[in-house]
Amino acid sequence: MFLKRLECSACGLGHEWSRLQNLCRSCNRPLFAIVDLAAASRTLTRETLRAREKSLWRYREVLPLPPDVEPVSLGEGGTPLLRASRTCGTDDIELWIKDESLNPTQSFKARGMSVAVSMAKYLGATKLAVPSAGNAGGALAAYAARAGMEAHVFMPRDTPRANVVECRELGAHVTLIDGLITDCAAEIARRKANEGWFDMSTLKEPYRVEGKKTLGYELAEQLNWQHRKSSRASDLRSELPDVILYPAGGGTGLIGMWKAFEEMETIGWIGKNRPRMFAVQAAGCAPIVRAFEAGEKSAAEFQDAHTVASGLRVPKAIGDFLMLKILRESNGGAIAVDDQEMIRVAPEVGANEGLFICPEGAACFAALKVLRFAGKIASGERIVIFNTGSGIKYLEAYDRELGQ
Ligand SMILES: Cc1ncc(COP(=O)(O)O)c(C=O)c1O
Ligand SMILES: [Zn+2]
Repeated sequence: MFLKRLECSACGLGHEWSRLQNLCRSCNRPLFAIVDLAAASRTLTRETLRAREKSLWRYREVLPLPPDVEPVSLGEGGTPLLRASRTCGTDDIELWIKDESLNPTQSFKARGMSVAVSMAKYLGATKLAVPSAGNAGGALAAYAARAGMEAHVFMPRDTPRANVVECRELGAHVTLIDGLITDCAAEIARRKANEGWFDMSTLKEPYRVEGKKTLGYELAEQLNWQHRKSSRASDLRSELPDVILYPAGGGTGLIGMWKAFEEMETIGWIGKNRPRMFAVQAAGCAPIVRAFEAGEKSAAEFQDAHTVASGLRVPKAIGDFLMLKILRESNGGAIAVDDQEMIRVAPEVGANEGLFICPEGAACFAALKVLRFAGKIASGERIVIFNTGSGIKYLEAYDRELGQ
């Protein structure tokens, strides 16, 4: 096993990986897994990858879990990277869509939960609890069921109905809270010691981000196999995209991809260049956009958060300082989009590309238009948008007859 230790993302304090734990015991910030990359890359090579299974466990050497332990898996990862052809005036840019709706439980949350549930089980947890905007709850319910463990999911009462029903049908204990995801998290924090729950909140346990980092590995792998049409010298720089648009709530995917890029540079698979990372948020809940624009290092809690993109309704994220650092270091940015724009652009993508995307993914398409208009994306650039989940779970948002 190539996992060496856990390290605090803020103060750097080392922690043993071999016990169940949440945040840094000194400063209460997220812990990151430190992998022995020199050793891992002896067997994990671009050549060996070609012959491996499609699931994210093909990156086994850079993921936690001892090699002789069977992961809790439902076939997550290995999602298509599709070239968009007709959407958003894409004639002069190279637009790709990473379609995460093909994961088990129809969202990218499956990646984090497969790895985190595998580790929690291995380290002896039996009851798992999570606050969720919807999709994380469904994913935890599925992987806990697969692992023979209890799942306790806390969601805001107005979470899309499909998420609530899905969790129940997967055998989870579901509690609906009159409040936001932060109130759900507070309820778990209050009860977990008495109930014997292990807290699976994103970035409050160390391994969901490890699952999410496979988004970065997959991007590099999938783009590596493509050939650029143009032969400009700058095209030879890197196989990674020039720009990534990511719908950020807790920001775990963004933070995970950044970690993957650093790891891949250490392994020698990519150079120093990084994509410009953009966090896309909803205008009704945009703490990261506000903090980015104000030049802050962390984000204040966003009051009266509301948006149909329930995954973006995260008024306060524990990884805020990490997200802001990445957006600045990458020379990217943060951008907020109105709900009406998301709902308007989704059928455009649907009719042009054949994908029924979630409002969070739609927010990125709306953001692309704004960034293009503002001249922040140049013609000829390669852009990747993450469609983080399926539109099918958001019927209240998309169907006037069901919505209020
Ligand atoms: C569909 C969807 N997109 C994006 C997000 C935000 O993800 P992250 O917490 O990694 O920023 C969520 C989170 O709930 C989600 O369900
Ligand atoms: Zn610390």
